[in-house]
Amino acid sequence: MESSAAARAGFHQLQVSEVDRLTDDSVAVTFAVPPELHESYRHLPGQHLALRRTGEQGEEIRRTYSICAPAAPAGEAPVLRVGIRLVDGGSFSTYALKELAVGDLVEVMEPMGRFSLTPRPGHFAAVVGGSGITPVLSMAATLLAREPEARFCLIRSDRTAASTMFLDEVADLKDRYPDRFQLVTVLSREEQQAGLPSGRLDRERLTGLLTALLPVDTIDGWFLCGPFGLVQGAEQALRGLGVDRGRIHQEIFHVDDGSAPAPAPAADAPAHATLTATLHGRSGSWPVERGETLLETVLRARADAPYACKGGVCGTCRAFVVGGEVRMDRNFALEPEETEAGYVLACQSHPATPDVELDFDR
Ligand code: FES
Repeated sequence: MESSAAARAGFHQLQVSEVDRLTDDSVAVTFAVPPELHESYRHLPGQHLALRRTGEQGEEIRRTYSICAPAAPAGEAPVLRVGIRLVDGGSFSTYALKELAVGDLVEVMEPMGRFSLTPRPGHFAAVVGGSGITPVLSMAATLLAREPEARFCLIRSDRTAASTMFLDEVADLKDRYPDRFQLVTVLSREEQQAGLPSGRLDRERLTGLLTALLPVDTIDGWFLCGPFGLVQGAEQALRGLGVDRGRIHQEIFHVDDGSAPAPAPAADAPAHATLTATLHGRSGSWPVERGETLLETVLRARADAPYACKGGVCGTCRAFVVGGEVRMDRNFALEPEETEAGYVLACQSHPATPDVELDFDR
């Protein structure tokens, strides 16, 4: 039986129904969703799931993984399939690749995330690196199946063909939609044949590739997903080609590979600060301990506070600043419009005024 605290935090215990090996270092894991939870797990193409388990020292481990399956139409059962790639020293990914088996129960949060493409007519494009293919596979498959007037161009970068996730699924899209799905694969550690590009996909190479491939200025939406360096290079290439910021959507994986900027230095913080927060309709006020994030303050009193990565990447801890001011260490999840509207990532926020009020329900 799952606890009510788990359910309040949006977690439910789901049974693993399939584990498919994709490459030497990645798997796709499918969860069975009981009928009473179908609506809770209905996802938009591009959203992710946070998975939770208890580590060997009793610590709680949460990781987010994108859903690779297409979004199910209303009335059909949602398919919850995520792609997991082994990360060096990663406790959850190691467990998923080495131990997880059909029949196991896993705590799974309801789908989250605003990196999403709602099917509509138009021409869309994505630049992805490594496991960044996962949410984009769901977007492309959903779009092409539901919207006969839509086209999608996928530019993907990986190390070698053998390390490329979802090769078959992407090839299947190419077979099924030869006129509406365009695929370019760039392998950084492998010579390719027939004049296809190889080597690292940086800003300069992307600029040349994009202009040769696509009518860049008429693309309706760009979706960038992968390691920080690739996403940043792609965004710079697109901005350099005159693409409006509002048409570029991005999701970053692996910010701790050394390519991301260090957190902003701490400014003068108030000696004593109090946080008032509203969460799931209930409010409380607590002192903020020196150096802790506002998420940590809330978690001391409320186990149902939403979070997954604690690294400023997934956006699960998004909250609205109702009063006072906060300083964020870093932000790889919120769009500029969201920060301008007053949203922050609680896992990266510290008080900049003695009183701060957050609303997690907005
Ligand atoms: S928990 Fe992921 S951004 Fe805060």
